[in-house]
Amino acid sequence: MIRPPPPVRAKNFRKAAVDPMKIQIVKNAASLPEGYALAIPLFAGNLTSTSPSSALPSDLWTEIHGWIKRTRYKANDGDFSHVRILIANRATDVLLLGCGSRDQAHAGIIRRAGGRAAVEARRLGVTTVVPVFDTDRGAQFPSLWIRAFATGFREGTYLLRPSKSASKPVQFALLGAAKAIASLQKDVEYGFAVGTAINTVRDIANQPGNQAPPRVIADQAKALAKAHGLSCTIWNKAELKKQRCRAILAVGQGSHEEPRLIQLSYAGRKKNLRPLVVVGKTITFDTGGISLKPAKNMEWMKFDKCGGMAVLAFMSIVASVIKPDRPVIGILTSAENMPGATATRPGDVIQSRNGKTIEVLNTDAEGRLVLADALDVACELNPSCIIDLATLTGAANVALGRPASPIMANHDALRNALQAAGEAVGDRVWPLPLYPDYERMLKSPFADLKNIGDGSAGTIIGGTFLKAFVRSDIPWAHIDLTSAWEERATSFGPAGATIFGAALLANWLESSGGSAA
Ligand code: BES
Ligand code: MN
Ligand code: ZN
Repeated sequence: MIRPPPPVRAKNFRKAAVDPMKIQIVKNAASLPEGYALAIPLFAGNLTSTSPSSALPSDLWTEIHGWIKRTRYKANDGDFSHVRILIANRATDVLLLGCGSRDQAHAGIIRRAGGRAAVEARRLGVTTVVPVFDTDRGAQFPSLWIRAFATGFREGTYLLRPSKSASKPVQFALLGAAKAIASLQKDVEYGFAVGTAINTVRDIANQPGNQAPPRVIADQAKALAKAHGLSCTIWNKAELKKQRCRAILAVGQGSHEEPRLIQLSYAGRKKNLRPLVVVGKTITFDTGGISLKPAKNMEWMKFDKCGGMAVLAFMSIVASVIKPDRPVIGILTSAENMPGATATRPGDVIQSRNGKTIEVLNTDAEGRLVLADALDVACELNPSCIIDLATLTGAANVALGRPASPIMANHDALRNALQAAGEAVGDRVWPLPLYPDYERMLKSPFADLKNIGDGSAGTIIGGTFLKAFVRSDIPWAHIDLTSAWEERATSFGPAGATIFGAALLANWLESSGGSAA
């Protein structure tokens, strides 16, 4: 007789992280607080001709240029230096953040520079970071990059295991007259808000499998929804049965922890607009099931819920920052993939929600099963378009590695717009094709389709499988996440979930209004 596990108390995510970070406005350098540091993103080449920021004393630049000459500092991407110089008789910490050549710079580099500033500031005991953006010989620092820097900074302040004795969080100040820096302030506020949503959801995403089964994720999603005035519907096992979500149930049936389908809805002012629907794979732990994964590195599969986590963070940005006219619905399709006496077996045939039968040849290809039902639910909502995010295949990492995640779609314009949005915020995605030629690789003699191909084109086969569960007249895109988590702390942020994709979705919704065309 196996006893069900004891209830896990939903560890409430840290409310503090929800508060927007305060931005101080400081008129001139003389009134900067004790222990401040300047953070200066610098582009390689012609370093000693960088133009002075209007609000900073000119001898600062004389000093920095002298230092750069003496040390041959190059400002390549990731080059960091801490310089302490005397300005107007005041010792000033300067954090130089190399961003490589201006021509090759992109939002990801700037976002990491922001993260680096936060990490180094904490290490050095700096009280307040003051960014200096107008260093590119008079050229404008793009507004998108200011947002990216601010998001990265906020991300860099995240502590995986905050201790009570931890020093006060690093503050952020802008230098200049309130009027002159109004637009700068707006961009920083926007960037911080995105970073705050990401950090809040990181608390949920970083929980290990034992502490965060689907029912706990559902509780926490509900609490987050409530905090943002979003409505939230949760389907438990009984409701999933009623709703014919047999593929989700098949993935979860080896576990004592029951699956959940979680829906968060933002109403929008224009109820007649078709809703944007975003779907996230939320496997709270992926053992592979009966097709068990090897023991080595299996621990990382606690992050197999990160597609859903990006959807959660996105919904919180929708509610708190973007507030679009269009209704937006986020769906988390959640189960624990375990082996066991009741688990789905290789060769089992299941019928998904839309009626298609699936031969489950490998129980480790479970993400596409939970998504099959969720995408069918999404189609029923008469959406403007559907975007799904999932840690679907190891092959995605083989194809593109960490610098970019594969994106696939049934609609070129939607795919291109999402790619541009990712580029704008530093969540890079790159297209793979979904040629109909791939469909024959999923043919099964025993069912409408099987859940794996022959091992080639693994990521495309995953996308091709999902495509079969989306109505072909609905614009749909699928992102197979490759950098959903960091295995260890980086120079610009903590180990653990990155919530890759949330900033991308936010930027795309802002620029497109949530429609594909
Ligand atoms: N969650 C994994 C994919 C994954 C593995 C993402 C490692 C990131 C890191 C997914 O459920 C899976 O196991 N996919 C299989 C598919 C295969 C059986 C067709 C894979 O990639 O091996
Ligand atoms: Mn798997
Ligand atoms: Zn998985």
